[in-house]
Amino acid sequence: MPVVYLTRRERFSSAHRLFNPDLSDEQNLQIFGQCSHPNWHGHNYELFVTVKGEVNADLGYAVNAKDISRIVHDMVVLKLDHKNINMDVDFMRGKMASTENLAVSIWNELQKPLAVVGALLHCIRIVETENNSVEYYGE
Ligand code: NI
Repeated sequence: MPVVYLTRRERFSSAHRLFNPDLSDEQNLQIFGQCSHPNWHGHNYELFVTVKGEVNADLGYAVNAKDISRIVHDMVVLKLDHKNINMDVDFMRGKMASTENLAVSIWNELQKPLAVVGALLHCIRIVETENNSVEYYGE
């Protein structure tokens, strides 16, 4: 059976701050740029979850996009949308609130629940701004 990749897009808006608490605001600005602003700021993130599977001849699809959407929404989007990534999100606790860490953490949150519905997670892609995006393939 042919193997296909299905990508589901979800969106969330979250606040964050990139900073090292041991450094001054000036030093943080040097390292992390505008994302270090002490009084927080937000991004309208786009999350692309790509899963892989063999097309089922009877169904015409590999995995049910509704299942993917429900899992991504319940496990990840609900926890992030309109929240502060540094303070409110259990799976980001103790981590730098970077898009890179977000991608890895989202992968870890989704891999098992997706496997339960027969979807093999292939890629987590997060678009933070028009110019910056991150991809993670589980390596
Ligand atoms: Ni930022």
